[in-house]
Amino acid sequence: MRILIAKDYDGMCQNGANLIAAQVLLKPESVLGLATGSTPCGIYDRLAGKYSAGELDFSAVRSVNLDEYVGLPPENDQSYRYFMQKNLFSRINIRPENTHVPNGLAEDIEAECRRYEQQVADYGYPDLQLLGIGLNGHIGFNEPAGDFPALTHRVALTESTINANSRFFKSLDEVPRAAITMGIGTIMRAKKILLAISGENKKEIARAAICGPVTPQVPASVLQLHPDVTVILDEAAAALL
Ligand code: PGA
Repeated sequence: MRILIAKDYDGMCQNGANLIAAQVLLKPESVLGLATGSTPCGIYDRLAGKYSAGELDFSAVRSVNLDEYVGLPPENDQSYRYFMQKNLFSRINIRPENTHVPNGLAEDIEAECRRYEQQVADYGYPDLQLLGIGLNGHIGFNEPAGDFPALTHRVALTESTINANSRFFKSLDEVPRAAITMGIGTIMRAKKILLAISGENKKEIARAAICGPVTPQVPASVLQLHPDVTVILDEAAAALL
């Protein structure tokens, strides 16, 4: 693992945007694995800025997102499709047909999981996968569990995740209880992984994921076994490393 520590959130986002921009410059038809959450917002801002400045071209880029809530339509401002449109896709020249987010409204969620896994496989898996980390160590919506799920699947969200995500909803009751997520096996097939961690409240889980034992109880710890991971942190999140 390469560890890059920046002074603050802005510096961490700068590092993240530079690494993603380098990937797109080196391979314009890159497959980017993308993430939602508050952590990547500043990274997406900078990528949109680089596009506006004429420094980056996304016209050949393909993207696959990690996850989506079950039951939320794309127009719902808490759906991850909505998040991606607002924070990145509408601000750059990526082709809409080249962007993929699991369909949380699919009638048959199991079939949608298989279709999505196949889509990611058909693309040859991401050249670069961006990840955040949950307070419980989840990546995508792979929650602490007894094993590492291999493929895209339906998950019941844990209490910790429902509580953490309730800040984006009007009430706790509105937070979806289930999601579709790439599996740990799907994520581990990415050629490069960029894990972004920011803030004092992530310092314990950052240490557990990076320095602790590899265990499905801390899903992000599996990244220690991947051959090409860069972790970008701010000083607050890196405090216990
Ligand atoms: P956050 O979420 O960036 O909003 O903290 C990260 C995650 O849960 O993966």
